[in-house]
Amino acid sequence: MRTKLVAGNWKMHGGLEANEALVRSVLAGVSGLTGVSVAVCAPFPYLAQLQSLLAGTALSWGAQNLSEHVQGAFTGEVSGAMLNDFSCGYVLVGHSERRSLYGESDAVVAAKYVSAQSAGLVPILCVGETLAEREAGQTMAVVSAQIDAVIQRAGVESFAKAVVAYEPVWAIGTGRTATSAQAQEVHAAIRAQLMALDKNVADSLQILYGGSVKPGNAQELFGMPDIDGGLIGGASLVAEDFLAICRAAAQ
Ligand code: 13P
Repeated sequence: MRTKLVAGNWKMHGGLEANEALVRSVLAGVSGLTGVSVAVCAPFPYLAQLQSLLAGTALSWGAQNLSEHVQGAFTGEVSGAMLNDFSCGYVLVGHSERRSLYGESDAVVAAKYVSAQSAGLVPILCVGETLAEREAGQTMAVVSAQIDAVIQRAGVESFAKAVVAYEPVWAIGTGRTATSAQAQEVHAAIRAQLMALDKNVADSLQILYGGSVKPGNAQELFGMPDIDGGLIGGASLVAEDFLAICRAAAQ
């Protein structure tokens, strides 16, 4: 039985005051929950704030990106070791916004995944197809190629210390959620891809669903056998919504 994980992705939202109010409310709400881990992934400048507010609590935190490099002349970049200085547990890798807006290829994403693990962080590897790819019947091919790029680079055993998030691009921020059956189909395919290489790793891997998860659809999604929680964008900015989603995962 896999523990569920609900991770908030604040994207480029937040501010010192709003963050504090949000995490205090979330913390108060998650403290009594069992069977679910909860994390928030914040913009880099707020990681120190989260470290000071959340160290020793039931709420974990992480970043939304990292450099594939260890250090050097990479202006504007942030390394895994720097994230470690702020006790991040997780880091998102290959979010579709990074892939589409910042040109991160499967190879770059795989390199970032390796950097995260080398720094002792758990990468949340995001994969997913665009609407055009889904309509062309390429969903499984796209997602399995994204996973395969990481397997080739880091090995299947690396997934013992990683989380995968399936986020269909057409469902992100659109209010259009994949049905639980659509999501389950892809989650099962991801697990089968890893199962063919390492049964234990595949069995224990947390595969999150992301894309317009809301209090009203979370329970049905999380009830599917291969959906182990969610990666939550917009709803993670509203304490009550995020908590309702966490409670759906805890049931
Ligand atoms: P929304 O929940 O706002 O659709 O965002 C999903 C997402 O991109 C989380 O990483």
